[in-house]
Amino acid sequence: MTTEQKQQDDKMQKIVAFCKRKGFIFPACEIYGGLANSYSYGPYGAELKSNIKKMWWKKFVQERSDIVGMDGPILLATKLWEASGHTEGFNDAMVDCKKCKKRYRADHVVKELTGKDMEGDLAGMTNTLQGGLKCPECGGSDWTEVKNMSQMFKTEMNAVEGPIYLRPETAGAIFVDFKNITDSMRVKVPFGIAQIGKAFRNEIVARNFIFRIREFEQMEIEYFIEPETKWEPLFEDWLDKQTEFALSIGAKPEDLRRYEHPKEKLSHYSKKTIDTEYNFPFGFGELFGLAHRGDFDLTQHSKLSGVKLEYFDAANNKRYTPHVLEPTVGVDRLILTAICAAYTEEKIEDETRVVMKFPYGVAPIKIAVFPLLKNKPELVNKAREVFDSLKSRYMCEFDDNGNIGKRYRRQDEIGTPFCVTVDFDSLEKDDVTVRDRDTMEQTRIRIEGLNGYFQDRLDR
Ligand code: GAP
Repeated sequence: MTTEQKQQDDKMQKIVAFCKRKGFIFPACEIYGGLANSYSYGPYGAELKSNIKKMWWKKFVQERSDIVGMDGPILLATKLWEASGHTEGFNDAMVDCKKCKKRYRADHVVKELTGKDMEGDLAGMTNTLQGGLKCPECGGSDWTEVKNMSQMFKTEMNAVEGPIYLRPETAGAIFVDFKNITDSMRVKVPFGIAQIGKAFRNEIVARNFIFRIREFEQMEIEYFIEPETKWEPLFEDWLDKQTEFALSIGAKPEDLRRYEHPKEKLSHYSKKTIDTEYNFPFGFGELFGLAHRGDFDLTQHSKLSGVKLEYFDAANNKRYTPHVLEPTVGVDRLILTAICAAYTEEKIEDETRVVMKFPYGVAPIKIAVFPLLKNKPELVNKAREVFDSLKSRYMCEFDDNGNIGKRYRRQDEIGTPFCVTVDFDSLEKDDVTVRDRDTMEQTRIRIEGLNGYFQDRLDR
């Protein structure tokens, strides 16, 4: 391992330990020994997740007159996945080291060992591995044949014959409601349908904390356009919107880059696909995807369902199957991005302050309220009053435990932008100290003006 790799590894381990210690993300089912690479969001993680989802919905549904939202089921008709090609072709290549039994995603291990991208070429990967490549885990060089493994999670449903699948992406649920939405809403092309929800993939190797997991959330939009329209400017605009969103959750511009899928790797129906990647501690990884999918999905679902999925353009009296641009992103990857971008260690005199520099909208707790001393009922009561006056508008936390310095540090660690302290002067003058997370400056503010003070700063 190089020094740089070691530093990256240390940073990731620090973040994983921090997330557990501070109530953001826990390994799932720990008391039963855990479940491979599954995680729960703790109290602060759940707030962070909800904030990111709300920000996305606000930007892409609430503030757009051309996009509507929906919320479809996880269990969908099996025909849908036949139409989209998932039952046949949603596979990853796997290979096992015969000596230590470690299982790999074949294209990943070949890339790691040779630098070559051989995704899709099963025979080529088998030959390359069996030609003497060494297992990164044990150094053995005896490999199984590379085989495809379906990523679909299978289950059964009472009263339904054959297997049912947990959806591997949210997009399918949108396409099958295209007709219901065009029939019930006054949408006009170009328009989009947005959805947030769980997706499930039986990944061969889940790894890098919440970057690659088997149960995750996606936020996807299917944006329908007229087939003859000049789509390139719309595509560019979606890329910019994805970057804007990444920046709004705290990513720095220098940590973002774009990767265009080479033409020969695109599906036959796709005109273009560009991923926006983030520089995680383990290296750049896909955060957003944006694909031009042509009319593949609507045409396929029409074919297999027998129901026409077309759009009638009343102004021009023409009927057609729209093409679609698909901007997509994983919620869990955005959470990891927000955490990695916010995590900061600052030297203050001879102490190290850990502070999560979340943008205000992302921060799990917006304001913490403290009585200076916990054994003075008049301070505690006044602080409770202040807390009650803020809690309906903002996620607040009341803390009377430990000295004020420790309480500030605790809030810095979870990224709370403001702390409010009620002290003896507050009883006389009806004012409080407001301390800023980033500058650590303290300002005296009258209690009656507190809501306005925070609205100016937090509601922008
Ligand atoms: N409908 C298109 C689609 O699903 P994708 O690139 O396979 O495209 C979209 O997935 C996004 O979902 C990715 O950009 C990524 O952010 C997220 N994602 C995919 N697989 C994931 C996994 N195993 N764990 C966490 N997030 C994942």
